[in-house]
Formats: sequence, structure tokens, C-alpha cells
Amino acid sequence: MSSKGIDFGHAGPLREADPARNCKRFSGRAALLTAAARGIGLACALRLAAEGATVCVTDRDEDALAEAAALAQQAGLTLHTSVMDSSDVLDTATRIETLQQLLGPFDILVNNAGGSLHTPYHFMDETDAHWQSVIELNMLSAVWSCRAVLPGMVARGVGRIVNFGSKAGRFGSLIAGANYAAVKGAMASLTRQLALEYGAYGITVNCICPGIVMTARTRSLWSERRTPAERARVLDEIPLKRHCEVEDVAASVAFLASDDAAFITGATLDLNGGQAMA
Ligand SMILES: NC(=O)c1ccc[n+]([C@@H]2O[C@H](COP(=O)([O-])OP(=O)(O)OC[C@H]3O[C@@H](n4cnc5c(N)ncnc54)[C@H](O)[C@@H]3O)[C@@H](O)[C@H]2O)c1
Repeated sequence: MSSKGIDFGHAGPLREADPARNCKRFSGRAALLTAAARGIGLACALRLAAEGATVCVTDRDEDALAEAAALAQQAGLTLHTSVMDSSDVLDTATRIETLQQLLGPFDILVNNAGGSLHTPYHFMDETDAHWQSVIELNMLSAVWSCRAVLPGMVARGVGRIVNFGSKAGRFGSLIAGANYAAVKGAMASLTRQLALEYGAYGITVNCICPGIVMTARTRSLWSERRTPAERARVLDEIPLKRHCEVEDVAASVAFLASDDAAFITGATLDLNGGQAMA
């Protein structure tokens, strides 16, 4: 539990200092974060809200959304929430359209939706259905969200899009299989192409690539798919000697969403404590 009473549900120690400080980089801006009622996405949403953004969080889990909104309220913040299935093209298009009618066009889009969906680690065990579901959640969800917010960003000549890749897509994964690694690699390519196409409209598109972050989902994969000895060895091989924390990701997303990153686009940001360097 942090000093602000926010429990992000991860294993590592939370920082005592509130990283949002008194900085209000997002006053007057509206942000949409997909599949963000828990874990990394929730930490990013709270960070953007703490820095003054009007924040809307979508997720398919209505109870988790209610918990997220209550958590934010305890910290003196507001999260607008909406049930939305990021793996469903129609739901994504209609919900985002409705949200923009209610809240105005989004200035910031964080395509957080993703994960390996506990699909098999070994390539030969991955069926087409596994591939399809992982591609839909991780990449098509971002395509559909971008399609919904880009016209508003283009019309106003401003926008920040942050996509979620992963260390898996850059250097391989120790807990997820080929489908997840491949689609996370594709997120970096999608990012570069959108950056190329939309730069002239004042829109930046960047991709963040965290190493393992001990959210509830990854914590169980980490213990199921790696032995205690392997887990200790991997940790020891990370130069910074710890795993990524949700606040690390939130700080980087906030940076890429801010004017401080106005001249950065098409970039892939590794966030892995030096575990893999390029
Ligand atoms: N956790 C990690 O180690 C890690 C590392 C690198 C990248 N990432 C990426 O970061 C992002 C967030 O990961 P996380 O571990 O916080 O996620 P998570 O598994 O904790 O899930 C976050 C939320 O996604 C929601 N969700 C799942 N499927 C959905 C759907 N179809 N529609 C709407 N909501 C849905 C869940 O209800 C949950 O609230 C993902 O893109 C993931 O691939 C995670």
C-alpha cells in the first residue's frame, strides 16, 4: 500500500514519494486507457489523473472498474469508467464514440490492452484460436482504438498515442509463447508506421516495452513456468537487480504522453532494468 493508499497489487516495494508530485502536465487534456482497471493500466491512469488529465478507463470487468474508480476517489482523483471489450471491434468503436461525445475528443490514447491470455508457452501447443485471441487483444484492439480517436486528433492537430509492446517482442519471453512475442514485436512496427503517417498532424506515437512486471497475471505465470532457481538467476542478471514496477511504467507513459516528449515519435522505449540492451 502506498502513502496515498493505493495498492497496485504487485509484489515489489512501492515508492514512498508520490511521483506525480505537484506536476500538472495534463491539465485540460483528456486521456483514454484501454483494459486499465487493474495492473499497469490502472497505475498509468492514476498517474495521468494525478497530473491533471481527465481520465477515462475502459475494461471488460465491471467490478474491477468500480474498484478502480473507488481507489482513485480515496486518493482524491477521478476516473471515468466504461465497460468495453477491447477484443470486440464493434464494441470498441461504439464505446469510444460515445465516450468522445460525453467527454470530448481524446488528446491521449494509451493502448494498454494486452497479455498472453495464459495461452501455451510452447509453439507447437499454440492453436490458431490462441493466435487469433492474442492478436485481437494485443494488436487489433490498438488498431480499433486508434481508428476511433485519430480523426479527432487530426482535426485538432494534436495527439499522443502510447502503445504497449514488451521485452517479449524485442528479445523473447521467459513466460509467454511465440504468439505473444510476435504480436508485441508487431506493435513496434505499427507504432513506427503510424508515427510516420500522423507526424504531420502533430500526433506522436510511441511504444513502451516493459520487462516482466509482477501483476497478478504475470506473477502466476512466472511461478508456473520458471523454477525458483531460474527466477533467482534472472533477477540476478538484471543490472538494476529488481523487476519493473507499475510505477516505472506509469512514469514512462506519462513522459511519452506529455509535452516533454513532443519531439519523440516512432520510438520503442525499453523498460527492463538493463536486462536486455540494444
Ligand atoms: N505484466 C507484465 O509483465 C507486462 C510486461 C510487458 C508488457 N505488458 C503489457 O502491459 C499491458 C498491461 O498488462 P497487465 O499485466 O497490467 O494486464 P492484466 O492482465 O493485469 O490485465 C489488465 C486488465 O485487462 C482487462 N482485460 C483483459 N481482456 C480484456 C478485454 N478483452 N477487453 C477489455 N479488458 C480486458 C482485465 O479485466 C484487467 O483488468 C499489456 O499490454 C501487456 O501485454 C505487461
